[in-house]
Amino acid sequence: MSETQTLTLSSNFEVPKTLPEVQFPVKEELNAFQPYFRKALKTDTFLLNQIINYMMLSKGKQMRPSLVFLCARLCGQINESSYTAATMIELLHTATLVHDDVVDDAETRRGLLSINRVWKNKVSVLLGDFLLSKGLLVALDRDEFELLKVLSHAVRRMSEGELRQLKASKLLNITEEKYYNIIGDKTASLIAACTECGAIAAGADLETRTKLREIGENIGMAFQIRDDLFDYGDDDTGKPKGNDIQERKITLPMIYALEQVSFFERSKIKKALKKKNKSKDEIQYLLDFVRAHKGVTYARQKMEHYANEAFSILNSFPDNQERSDLYKFLMFVIARKK
Ligand code: IPE
Ligand code: IPE
Ligand code: MG
Ligand code: MG
Repeated sequence: MSETQTLTLSSNFEVPKTLPEVQFPVKEELNAFQPYFRKALKTDTFLLNQIINYMMLSKGKQMRPSLVFLCARLCGQINESSYTAATMIELLHTATLVHDDVVDDAETRRGLLSINRVWKNKVSVLLGDFLLSKGLLVALDRDEFELLKVLSHAVRRMSEGELRQLKASKLLNITEEKYYNIIGDKTASLIAACTECGAIAAGADLETRTKLREIGENIGMAFQIRDDLFDYGDDDTGKPKGNDIQERKITLPMIYALEQVSFFERSKIKKALKKKNKSKDEIQYLLDFVRAHKGVTYARQKMEHYANEAFSILNSFPDNQERSDLYKFLMFVIARKK
């Protein structure tokens, strides 16, 4: 790639298809990260240990620690602080998933029965609290006050985002603008913390730090839109899941579709959305409605818009291996199949 190459979605880059491919540049660091994470989860409480062992049977994609390492390398070197940041972030992420499954009344998580299904909600609430406190304590134990500051803000935004989403789904009054605010808070906040903490750990200057945070904020938006698109079958299998629709979680494809129709039709669809325990046909009807009004296409365009914003900031960095590694990660976020 030449010195002046501009990165965009259409750049002549091979889209990384698999997670190991994008994680390859930080493979060793990710391996070294596992014992950090395990150690941070240490507890003398028998029940907690049992649940944590269950949780560790399936560990997730670890995209956030990967992002911390990739950004640390873009801004300098991977060091002890990068491991602290990665550990904190993965703990906080895990905590929010445990809580989120209570909020969403989810059956499964990472291919296993969710904690709230195996042990009930009460246990999930307490386990989530434990993980959250551990996540923040990791920074205190190591006097990493800057990381602690950034991550405490992210935790606050995540809780606010989840609460606002809950309220919006009760009232069915979500708008496109509210949706971006909600996903910015519940998801992009932590991904922005990954990129910013990667920079902080590498000792980057304020300008670089700010740029990295902006990249993360945009990639976080794209990440959640991608996740929301899965529900509409926007992946290889092409099989819509309809879980969000069942739970009346209204995301961008549905919001857009609803904006395209008359007041009368909108009321009809909202009524169908409100219904509890929807049948397969009722869900299919709603999925078809969204597709027919180009909701999926629109959401995909928005996702690409956010990705392009991230690319344009990344363009201001020198053209080197570290930059292309991060670029590939960003491509993967919007192309991923899970
Ligand atoms: C899921 O995040 C929650 C969202 C923000 C959509 P991930 O897709 O990164 O979850 P794991 O860690 O791989 O399970
Ligand atoms: C994920 O939110 C949790 C947070 C971002 C806090 P969702 O409810 O949208 O995601 P999944 O589908 O359960 O992972
Ligand atoms: Mg949720
Ligand atoms: Mg959920």
